[in-house]
Amino acid sequence: MQARESSLALPASGRGRFLAVCAGLVLSCVARADPPGASPSVLLEPSYLEPWRPQFHFTPARNWMNDPNGLVFFAGEYHLFYQYNPFGDRWGHMSWGHAISRDLVRWEHLPVALYEEHQVMIFSGSAVVDWQNTSGFGRPGQPPLVAIYTGHATDRPRQNQHLAYSTDRGRTWTKYASNPVLDIGETDFRDPKVFWHAPTRRWVMVVAWPLQRKVRLYASPNLKDWTHLSDFGPAGATAGIWECPDLFPLAFARAASRSARDTARHPKWVLIVNVGSGAPAGGSGCQYFVGDFDGQRFTLDPGYPQPEPELVPAGRVLADFEGEDYAGWEASGDAFGPAPARGTLPHQQLVEGFRGRGLVNTYRGGDAARGTLTSPGFVIDRDYLSFLIGGGRHPGQTCLNLRVDGRVVRTATGDNTERLTWKSWDVRELRGRSARLEIVDDHTGGWGHINVDHLLLADAPARPATQPALWADWGRDFYAAVSWNDLPPRDGRRVWIGWMSNWEYAQDVPTSPWRSAMSVPRELALRATPEGPRLVQRPVQELARLRVAHGRVRDTSVAAANARLAGPRFAGPLLEFEVEFAVQGHGRFGLEVHRGAQERTRIECDPLAGRLGLDRTQSGKTDFHPAFADRQEAPLRVRDGRVRLRVLCDTSSVEVFANDGETVLSALVFPSPTSTGWAVFGEPGDSRVARLDVWRLKSAWR
Ligand code: FRU
Repeated sequence: MQARESSLALPASGRGRFLAVCAGLVLSCVARADPPGASPSVLLEPSYLEPWRPQFHFTPARNWMNDPNGLVFFAGEYHLFYQYNPFGDRWGHMSWGHAISRDLVRWEHLPVALYEEHQVMIFSGSAVVDWQNTSGFGRPGQPPLVAIYTGHATDRPRQNQHLAYSTDRGRTWTKYASNPVLDIGETDFRDPKVFWHAPTRRWVMVVAWPLQRKVRLYASPNLKDWTHLSDFGPAGATAGIWECPDLFPLAFARAASRSARDTARHPKWVLIVNVGSGAPAGGSGCQYFVGDFDGQRFTLDPGYPQPEPELVPAGRVLADFEGEDYAGWEASGDAFGPAPARGTLPHQQLVEGFRGRGLVNTYRGGDAARGTLTSPGFVIDRDYLSFLIGGGRHPGQTCLNLRVDGRVVRTATGDNTERLTWKSWDVRELRGRSARLEIVDDHTGGWGHINVDHLLLADAPARPATQPALWADWGRDFYAAVSWNDLPPRDGRRVWIGWMSNWEYAQDVPTSPWRSAMSVPRELALRATPEGPRLVQRPVQELARLRVAHGRVRDTSVAAANARLAGPRFAGPLLEFEVEFAVQGHGRFGLEVHRGAQERTRIECDPLAGRLGLDRTQSGKTDFHPAFADRQEAPLRVRDGRVRLRVLCDTSSVEVFANDGETVLSALVFPSPTSTGWAVFGEPGDSRVARLDVWRLKSAWR
């Protein structure tokens, strides 16, 4: 699917397409006079025993759900509202579904809180307890709950911010008669998160300006009148649209401080920005910024990773393809023509990222053209060979090869994009050898072409400009995450929850009669690291109530750990693990879950590469979308020779919290019901199991 730019502007996007197809249905459903608050589809409870029904993650009984909304704690209840389609299992008719919990573990469904009405869908937003009745919606001693949400007009391109309120603990809601309360005339302007800012004694709103890759900050004395304070962005990840922001303080112990007095906890502010595409695992994801908020503007912490410009070292240019012919390179086949291409060829998507005017581009007449372009011989007299490459990712078929003594000793492909980017080979071991380069196009299907430019021998690798970002979760399935307002000060936690899916395939996920789950609620903290303050997460402690059987081993081999804990007592699918590996060698180790004869979800630590991987290519059902079967990766630090993993497995998900929540990776999986096994893995000599605790969990729905 294409990156979603605007839910309205791009009808090709998943939701846009759905809207267009269902236009007739929309009208008939909206016209239906549903008695307020009584949606039969919500009140009739399905069994919660359907295939892949999560047992300790929140799901609506039926129909489509996306973002968590209106998270607020009031009168002993955690409220969870959510983007909901009361009439179907795909995105549409967005309304706020509603559930409450007293412990963040067991949820009770309540009727839909806010319905689509008068050509206005109820998009994402937040809720607050208006303790001082600044809005006037409450009565003395009876503070109202106020929801601040985006009204998404369906009859014209407009999004603006609306209020609704409840004076009966969230059971019934009234839309404010003078909506909208904030309208800047934009098509895309959404997902307000509002909180009380005590130092300035006013409400603050952070709201996404998606196409600009900005968040806007506003202040209000009464939730009704809003004044613009400042904007933040673009920064960090900007490839995808910005959605669902959040802004909150977290206690922080400064890194350099040693003395007890210095470790006094200072708050820092965390700005959450969910991005519609371009996340590390592909598709939508959740980035964050750390900094300060003075009541007016958010400023980035100096520890935030700095963007780096492109680096092209001085060296010997082997070919830049700027001339009127291939300058001594020999072409065979029909893919190259008599001279280098000048940029994009007819019927090709825009080719970008090459230097100067010319490049090798084998899209001559389309993908069907084939051939080989071979360089004159040259001597490898520097340490690195760098080049710009784009086009197809077909190893051996659309590739650049380095041949020494006739043998291919290095090879590279494009990444199925027309944009050329720098790649490099370390050729130190080949210094002094004669070589030839060869550009091959031997693929005639989709992406059956290759783009190459600027082959450079130098003593350092060339590298592209980078604009690093910090990611709250490296997995595919954690989006639109936002935190609860109004947890009592004696609790002191910052707890959030995310939508466990990805806009790339969310509407195709094979579950029925509901579609989508939330992550487990997670407690947030900031940890000092050598690179600066970083967000860490752990499942809320209340989830420990679901533990029913506990097995443990200490300081043993991988094989002995598996043997000791084998058997039905610790069989899945509902499992929690805490495992600490002692790293002794360089080999990989980890944990396989949802294991069956043909299936496994592999959580793999690679100490040499410093990577944590989750491989779901053989996790069960994956064929419902071409982007689903994948391998997701995150950075992983081995500290003091140890790696710790906390893993939560539900019927259709895996959440991995590595090194006490420093790296988090959440992924959906759809294993068959018999894939209930698990095992740690790793070669003797590479790793030992320092500690392993496993708990079988019970369902939160029974
Ligand atoms: C994020 C989002 C929000 C929007 C909502 C609509 O997933 O696109 O920006 O308010 O979904 O359902």
